[in-house]
Amino acid sequence: MEATTYNYKVVRQFAIMTVVWGIVGMLVGVILASQLIWPDLTFGIEWLSYGRLRPLHTNAVIFAFGGSAMFAVSYYIVQRTCQVRLWAEKLAAFTFWGWTAVIVLAAITLPMGITSSKEYAELEWPIDLLIAVVWVSYALVFFGTIVKRKTKHIYVSNWFFGAYILVIALLHIVNSAELPWILGGHASAWYKSYSAYAGVQDAMVQWWYGHNAVGFFLTTAFLGMMYYFIPKQAGRPIYSYRLSVVHFWSLNFIYMWAGPHHLQYTALPDWAQSLGMVFSLMLLAPSWGGMMNGIMTLSGAWHKLRTDPILKFMVTALSFYGMSTFEGPMMSIKTVNALSHYTEWTIGHVHSGALGWVAMITIGSMYYLIPRLFGRESMYSTKLIEWHFWLSTIGVVLYIASMWIAGVAQGLMWRAANPDGTLTYSFAQVLTTMHPFYMIRLGGGLLFLTGMLMMAYNVLKTVGAGRVVNDAPIPQAVHA
Ligand code: HEM
Ligand code: HEM
Repeated sequence: MEATTYNYKVVRQFAIMTVVWGIVGMLVGVILASQLIWPDLTFGIEWLSYGRLRPLHTNAVIFAFGGSAMFAVSYYIVQRTCQVRLWAEKLAAFTFWGWTAVIVLAAITLPMGITSSKEYAELEWPIDLLIAVVWVSYALVFFGTIVKRKTKHIYVSNWFFGAYILVIALLHIVNSAELPWILGGHASAWYKSYSAYAGVQDAMVQWWYGHNAVGFFLTTAFLGMMYYFIPKQAGRPIYSYRLSVVHFWSLNFIYMWAGPHHLQYTALPDWAQSLGMVFSLMLLAPSWGGMMNGIMTLSGAWHKLRTDPILKFMVTALSFYGMSTFEGPMMSIKTVNALSHYTEWTIGHVHSGALGWVAMITIGSMYYLIPRLFGRESMYSTKLIEWHFWLSTIGVVLYIASMWIAGVAQGLMWRAANPDGTLTYSFAQVLTTMHPFYMIRLGGGLLFLTGMLMMAYNVLKTVGAGRVVNDAPIPQAVHA
């Protein structure tokens, strides 16, 4: 018998965990920001040392918060736009428990200091294998659902999700190629491994991975989210469907080649560094095309921005997307990178993308999605969403503006030299200059985290007043 309902259970599980992991990851971010001001905040406990908590933060915010959000929205959108129930539901349920197990294992092993030491790919090979199994299952569920769709065409969000799922599989498998120690006779640390690549090749593979993890995990995937929820919340069709298709192909083609901009002035061949720079500059065009497409979708619905805080989240997210994708190409220019690299400027850029774009589009989308998963028209309190919006916006601005100023000052102070060739400033002097900016960043982070706690309260109240919706009827008319 053909299913007449959508599967909302797995969507709901991932949506709730998005809020939980968001709070956990950002709390660790706030602790890190505090440790940079008060280094003694580790209390001498090695589990709390900066070097161990930092990868915990990045893994928690990217893979736990961002990952859970992506599972939730892609499962929701693929069903609704294909007008069918998820394919292989048991496998979909497995992806929830498998992914959650990966996150819990990361939360245990990273503070223990167990790491492959590759940024954003720190987890050791047993967990890598689990990730690969979960990801392949995800691909089967997603593409299986597309295959059995009842609609003729494939909505643009699904193109973005499809690219993200395929590319992350490719990146993860290639970059995680490693040789476990156990095979080299070091049975005592069975979980340790060596990278299969050496020297500059290792660096190149790592940053091909690292850059495209940003490109496909934190950008392509969230653009898929944007292409569904902005038209929905604005009540308007996408401004230009044709532009969205051009956006899709150009973005994905160009992103793949820009990785070397992470390795400017290193042992990487010079031509590869220049190639990374040129492709990064080209990336500005599709990025801004996509941003304009999202923003122009509001044509005829601008007045809604006055009263709808969910739409405010989404449009502000797009503005930050535009800002970070302008800043990124500038930072890839070699002479600019000579100043920005190793400084707080990079951290400012990261968080204008991560907090401004990724977190804000996710928060807006969750406010749209969660009431529907609990049989309610809207969230418990719109006023709290409005508060959340302003706290987040002020929080991001404080975070990134302080890091920009700190970064440029830091870069200029490091390179300043006296006429006799000695350095003008000592390392300690540069650190002292950073102090007030670290305080402002901490304030911004605290505001952002407070907003997330308000969200958790709002979600709890919405859930409490609602009812669990496991299955929602598939409408007969072909319309998502
Ligand atoms: C309350 C919110 C947050 C705070 C206070 C915060 C704070 C921090 C701090 C202090 C660092 C270390 C910077 C350094 O070593 O100099 C960091 C790194 C990082 N954070 Fe966050 N963060 C927050 C949210 C997020 C979110 C939501 C994401 C992603 C979606 C994110 C992604 C990253 C990444 C990728 C890095 C590493 C950057 C690099 O290596 O260049 N953060 N964060
Ligand atoms: C057109 C788009 C973009 C370009 C060309 C670009 C370019 C760059 C460049 C040149 C760096 C500095 C590399 C270094 O000096 O080490 C960088 C770092 C980074 N960017 Fe972007 N960026 C773009 C968009 C984004 C967005 C939207 C996000 C987040 C959602 C993001 C996240 C990051 C992260 C996490 C890093 C730090 C990586 C690390 O060192 O750990 N970028 N980006």
